[in-house]
Amino acid sequence: MLIPLLLLSLGGRSLARLYESVADLPDLEYDFLVVGGGAAGNVVANRLTENPKFSVLLLEAGTSNLEISIVPLLVENLLSGPNQFEWNYSTTAQTGLDNRTITYPRARILGGCTAHNGMVYTRGSAEDYDRWASITGDSGWSWDGVLPYFFKNERWVPPAGNHDTRGQFNPAVHSTHGINFVSLSGSRWPVFENQVIQTTRELPEEFPFNLDFNSGEPLGVGWFQSTIGGGERSSSARTYLGPEFIQRPNLHVLLDAQVSKLVGPKTKSGIVSFEGVEFKQGGTLFNASAKNEIILSAGPIGTPTILMNSGIGDKHKLSALDIPTVLDLPSVGQNATDHPMIFASWSVNSTQTIDNIQDNTTLFNEAFAEWNKSHTGPFTNVPVTHILFTRVDANSTVFENVTDPAAGPETPHIEIYLSTGNGPLPEHFITFGLLMLTPTSRGSITLASNNPFDPPLVDPGLLASPVDLALSREAVAKAYRFVQAPVWKDYIIAPTTDLGTLTTDELDVFIQTTASSSGHIVGTAAMSARDASYGVVNPDLLVKGASGLRIIDASIMPMIPTAHTQAGTYAIAERGADLVKGRWV
Ligand SMILES: Cc1cc2nc3c(=O)[nH]c(=O)nc-3n(C[C@H](O)[C@H](O)[C@H](O)COP(=O)(O)OP(=O)(O)OC[C@H]3O[C@@H](n4cnc5c(N)ncnc54)[C@H](O)[C@@H]3O)c2cc1C
Ligand SMILES: *[C@@H]1O[C@H](CO)[C@@H](O)[C@H](O)[C@H]1NC(C)=O
Ligand SMILES: *[C@@H]1O[C@H](CO)[C@@H](O)[C@H](O)[C@H]1NC(C)=O
Ligand SMILES: *[C@@H]1O[C@H](CO)[C@@H](O)[C@H](O)[C@H]1NC(C)=O
Ligand SMILES: *[C@@H]1O[C@H](CO)[C@@H](O)[C@H](O)[C@H]1NC(C)=O
Ligand SMILES: *[C@@H]1O[C@H](CO)[C@@H](O)[C@H](O)[C@H]1NC(C)=O
Ligand SMILES: *[C@@H]1O[C@H](CO)[C@@H](O)[C@H](O)[C@H]1NC(C)=O
Ligand SMILES: *[C@@H]1O[C@H](CO)[C@@H](O)[C@H](O)[C@H]1NC(C)=O
Ligand SMILES: *[C@@H]1O[C@H](CO)[C@@H](O)[C@H](O)[C@H]1NC(C)=O
Ligand SMILES: *[C@@H]1O[C@H](CO)[C@@H](O)[C@H](O)[C@H]1NC(C)=O
Repeated sequence: MLIPLLLLSLGGRSLARLYESVADLPDLEYDFLVVGGGAAGNVVANRLTENPKFSVLLLEAGTSNLEISIVPLLVENLLSGPNQFEWNYSTTAQTGLDNRTITYPRARILGGCTAHNGMVYTRGSAEDYDRWASITGDSGWSWDGVLPYFFKNERWVPPAGNHDTRGQFNPAVHSTHGINFVSLSGSRWPVFENQVIQTTRELPEEFPFNLDFNSGEPLGVGWFQSTIGGGERSSSARTYLGPEFIQRPNLHVLLDAQVSKLVGPKTKSGIVSFEGVEFKQGGTLFNASAKNEIILSAGPIGTPTILMNSGIGDKHKLSALDIPTVLDLPSVGQNATDHPMIFASWSVNSTQTIDNIQDNTTLFNEAFAEWNKSHTGPFTNVPVTHILFTRVDANSTVFENVTDPAAGPETPHIEIYLSTGNGPLPEHFITFGLLMLTPTSRGSITLASNNPFDPPLVDPGLLASPVDLALSREAVAKAYRFVQAPVWKDYIIAPTTDLGTLTTDELDVFIQTTASSSGHIVGTAAMSARDASYGVVNPDLLVKGASGLRIIDASIMPMIPTAHTQAGTYAIAERGADLVKGRWV
């Protein structure tokens, strides 16, 4: 059930140093400009202003509304179509998706996608990060290198309702001293939870229990972890820009400020630098300038767009749009990578699913009132209980002619998140979300015109490569094998669509006509080794061939991790902020 956005007014809190108008801003010259107040930008703004000598202006295109998405179950509110907190992107026709154009959610609000995402907290495999280190030649990006930054970000707290969590996670791989809340789910589904745990006992070889998938070794079935604290969404806006930080006199946050481009390019000894950025508020253009650095944190779509608008990109593509090239970097906007997602669902012989609550106004209102009163119950999370991370079978022919794209043998190819719901009463359903975690397809972000306020062309290249499609078929096979454990026999009534009996061709059609994006686009301003012939930033996140210009957000990931991407982005931002502070001591 969708609640109209306006009804979700739960009592606003206004914050002192959030500026809605340029006219109120005390200054337009700062030590650092941070562009984009999303997952990464808010971390950077927070950490730099720990040093009282640094002044920081954070420019965010969207507005601030800290309350709009704090009720975890109501995540669909901001994702169900165009709304004022969205960029409202659609993709180009996706050849791997039966030529469909799909909507491509991206938040335009303080907090960025952490204010509307699914709150899933997964880091990926240690091998994912060790591969980053080997690609970049910087051991700081290895698992051991980034783990302290996961810990700086994470504040592990008890789940809503405070149930006994022994045996559901490994405290040794979590931190209780970070800033963004992470917890096990407070939304309990004992019957379904038992189905899943019993499967790990009945089929332990293929589906072993994993005490904690965030240990660097994700394979197996583990309890769901979320960026939720006390039953509320923990976005980067509510935590990194929380009351104790936003009061810092050296931190200014300007809302409704869309940056178009970098201004004042200068070239000295072949190295480019910029004076500042141009941005628009209420139809008027303004400039802000940076004494030390400009840090782009506008996300994997916004960041390459700003670079190309500024003349940083492939010189041939730029000149085709009459944009003068300032820095020829053909990798800008290229190598976009995302995780395609499909669903498998079954009707079940159990009334203990979210359908009861989603589809029954009385029960919905009761559960909402419970959340409102005590922050407990089914509104404290989405109805996911566990995640399975798994690899294709060793004897599979999928990799007969191609190299296994996984970073190593402990890295999954497939994620299946296990959820109750979502179908119409009087039946009850369970749904598995199937993510293909090791895509070989690549897409791009390119400019549609030389008007910097035109939306860019978004091509995530979903399922463009045949091996990605084959891996998606393997994901379906895994899901069906999971529910072949004896425990499901009297529980499952029937699949919503019987994917188990389809021919390969029929299954391909199902996948191509139903797959969507998981929102995990990365890699559009990728990091590479200092001497690489491709890439956009060096391992210190400075743009190649530029000085005073850094990129700190999900764009810089050199390969997509086998995880939902916010945790990795937070780690990049924490380390990135340290690199900046180290440069300007
Ligand atoms: C629908 C959806 C669901 C997701 N679910 C999960 C999940 O459950 N778990 C998970 O780990 N990850 C999830 N993700 C991914 C995760 O949220 C992102 O990887 C992460 O937020 C990326 O952080 P970022 O800082 O790079 O960009 P963002 O968080 O997108 O932040 C970029 C910010 O920059 C602003 N901006 C952009 N352009 C400009 C400009 N020109 N001027 C000024 N400001 C600008 C934007 O408005 C935004 O606030 C999801 C993503 C989506 C879209
Ligand atoms: C997205 O659509 C909503 C609703 O139509 C609109 O209010 C909002 O301004 C749009 N966002 C952008 C960036 O155009
Ligand atoms: C998709 O479009 C391309 C180019 O227009 C075309 O060659 C191809 O046949 C189309 N594929 C499908 C499945 O319609
Ligand atoms: C911003 O700075 C650039 C370069 O100095 C200048 O050309 C432009 O006119 C300025 N724009 C505004 C709105 O001041
Ligand atoms: C894309 O990434 C690969 C490495 O994964 C690299 O070899 C290639 O040059 C990159 N392409 C561009 C255009 O940057
Ligand atoms: C559901 O389970 C009960 C026993 O718990 C059984 O009597 C009933 O037949 C089952 N219903 C279906 C549709 O399988
Ligand atoms: C909704 O739930 C209430 C309380 O359990 C129940 O009395 C009512 O019949 C349900 N309504 C529907 C349409 O299922
Ligand atoms: C939440 O509680 C407040 C009072 O504390 C009340 O005004 C509001 O209507 C409640 N909202 C919901 C959705 O129950
Ligand atoms: C692969 O091995 C599994 C057992 O591990 C077996 O069930 C399956 O039939 C085998 N598949 C092929 C294609 O040989
Ligand atoms: C691998 O290539 C061979 C020879 O072209 C082909 O017969 C086989 O089907 C291919 N395997 C896969 C999984 O595509």
